Formats: sequence, C-alpha cells, structure tokens
Amino acid sequence: MKRLILVICAMLTLLSTNTTAKTLVVYYSYTGNCREIVNTLTSQIETDVLEILPTEKELQYEANNYALGTQLLNAIKANPNDASSYPAIDPVTKSPADYQNIIIVTPLWWSQMAAITQTYLFQNASMMAGKHVGMIVSSHSSGISGVVSDAERLLPNVTWMGEALWINASNHGNRASLIENWIKTLNFDNENTTMDKMYITIDGQTQSATLVDNTATRELVAALQNAPITVTLNDNQFEIWGPLGKSLTTENEQMNTTAGDIVLYNGSNICIFYASNSWSYTRLGKIDGLSESELRTFLKAGESNITVMLSLTSGTTAIRSVNGNRMEDGAYYSLNGMKVSNPSKGIYIQNGKKVIL
Ligand SMILES: Cc1cc2nc3c(=O)[nH]c(=O)nc-3n(C[C@H](O)[C@H](O)[C@H](O)COP(=O)(O)O)c2cc1C
Repeated sequence: MKRLILVICAMLTLLSTNTTAKTLVVYYSYTGNCREIVNTLTSQIETDVLEILPTEKELQYEANNYALGTQLLNAIKANPNDASSYPAIDPVTKSPADYQNIIIVTPLWWSQMAAITQTYLFQNASMMAGKHVGMIVSSHSSGISGVVSDAERLLPNVTWMGEALWINASNHGNRASLIENWIKTLNFDNENTTMDKMYITIDGQTQSATLVDNTATRELVAALQNAPITVTLNDNQFEIWGPLGKSLTTENEQMNTTAGDIVLYNGSNICIFYASNSWSYTRLGKIDGLSESELRTFLKAGESNITVMLSLTSGTTAIRSVNGNRMEDGAYYSLNGMKVSNPSKGIYIQNGKKVIL
C-alpha cells in the first residue's frame, strides 16, 4: 500500500512538472496596449504570464508632457549600473530560471524601453543568462531601435530568438497576424524541455554544437546558465581534452568517436575530437557542420594550453531591428530608428549599439 502511494505521488509530481509551460511572457502595460498584445500572443502559444507592476500605483507617467516618464528614464541613463536608479516594482511570483524561453512585451517611452520593464530586466538579468529571449515593443509611432539597445544592454548574456516585433498605433488592430508571422520567424522551441545548443569559442572563433539529452548535458546546461565555463585543453593526437572543473553524471558506454564529437571522460574531463578513438565515454554532443580539416584548425590541433570557452550564447545573436528592417552594418540610425547619412553630434545607434558622436 505504502508503495502504491509512493508511486502515485511520483506520478503526480511528474505530471505537475510536465504541465509547466516552457515559455514565460513578461510584460508591463500602463495604458493597456501591451496587455492586449499579451492576450493575443497567449491565444496562439502556450505560455505562463507574468505582469510587472510598479510599486507606486497611482503615478501618471504621461502627466506634464510625460515629465515623470522622462525623469525615470533619465535617472536610469545617468547610472544604469546602480539598482537605485530603477523605479521599484512589486515582488514577482515566477522565476525566469524555470523557463527555457522568455518573451518580453514592453511599451516604448521616449524611444526607450519603459522604465518599469527596465527594472525587471535589470533585477533578473543573471537568471535570464543563457535563456532564449524574444521581444515585442508597443509604441504610438516611434521606431524601436532604442528599446532594442536597452534590451541588449540589460540582457548581455541571452540568446535572442530573432528580431524584435514592433507593434504601433496603426497596426495594433492587426496584431494577431503580426504575432503569428513573427513567431514563425523565430528560432522558437516551445516543446523541448532541454536546450540543445552550446557554443564553443577558441581564439575569437565561435562554433555551435548540438547537445544530446542526458543527465550530464542537463547538468552542464544548468552550470552554463549561471556563467560560461572556460577550460584549458591539450592536444592528444585525435582530440583536445582536459578537466572541465566539475563532475557530471556519467552514463559511460564504449563508443567509436568521430571528428566533432564532444564527450565526458572519467566524469570530469571534456574531450573534443578532430579524429576518432574507441573508448568508454559519456556522450555530450557534436560540433555542428565542420569538416575534419576545419575542426583541426578550429580546435588548434597539435597545440597545448588551448583556452576554450563553453557558453549558451554565440555572442553574435543580437536583435537588430529598426522599423522591421535590418540595420545596415556601420550606418548610423537616430534613436527612433531613422537612418542618418551625415550624423552631427548626438546619440545614434550603430551596429545595434548606442554611440555618442
Ligand atoms: C511616458 C511615456 C512616453 C512615451 N513615449 C513615446 C514615444 O516617444 N514615441 C511613441 O511613439 N510613443 C510613446 N509613448 C506611447 C506608448 O509607447 C504607446 O502608447 C504604447 O502602446 C503604450 O503601451 P501600454 O498601453 O501597454 O502602456 C509613450 C508613453 C508614455 C506613457
């Protein structure tokens, strides 16, 4: 009987874990447009929803020609790394750490991200590191490049799922089809419970690898969600290998490795192959799409003390969206997304980053 109860409890735990959505929609809405966008979005995909609420409830951000909104944004701009620059928000009940994907839905204020949304991202950036993140921005008419750079500043370690979606007063009524098409363009996986991409950076070059799903890779991904791992590896005729700095659960089996394979050896060493070997390892994954000779060059075959960084972001997947179009490399854009051919002194967006001339 005791056994039966234990089995039922275990089944219930499993069921409740599996019903958690893989995607969290985080939004702030002052006048209701972002709330409508979230309602439309959640009618199309299964998500959990978290509304961010300012601690001070009766504030009129638009009063006196938007003076308060401006004041809050200026305080952030003056000291963006200081927690006290951000307006207080209510405590939240859901943690981004529990989700694979996060979609931010935010209003634009003065061509920047609304101050209240900025508070949430500032406070939760470390828990969002390594997550797959998308963003929808609602404005009256201004372009959203300033909001995109705020997002990139606040969340430097996330993987952007694609370009941000801009919804404005003239297309808000059309949001159902805009959102549906946007989701199709995203690298969006709402089904799998595991993250299957890891990035390997050696000497400034980054390559993606596809991870297999086992206990070791889940532990590795959990560690990488906190921070990238840097290891020093050495050549061993068919691989580069060395200590990972942590032990992972082994599921060793005899295998014939081939070029690109990544395995765990003896529970706490990582081996990346540019040729083959036969041994008992726990498989972790494989580097995507490189030939054997490309792998030898990338892995610095034959060298010693090779610095290898493992991470969940490629570092090159910035969101680059201005008025729905890609920014041209090197060109200057105003904060509301207009291309500027001969910029004078001022603040511009260049290559997705804010620059001051
Ligand atoms: C303080 C403040 C500043 C704003 N600044 C701009 C702006 O610079 N350009 C613009 O097009 N809309 C601006 N808006 C309008 C909002 O971006 C727009 O109404 C948005 O849809 C609001 O989303 P919400 O209804 O979810 O709060 C501003 C609104 C507020 C409250």
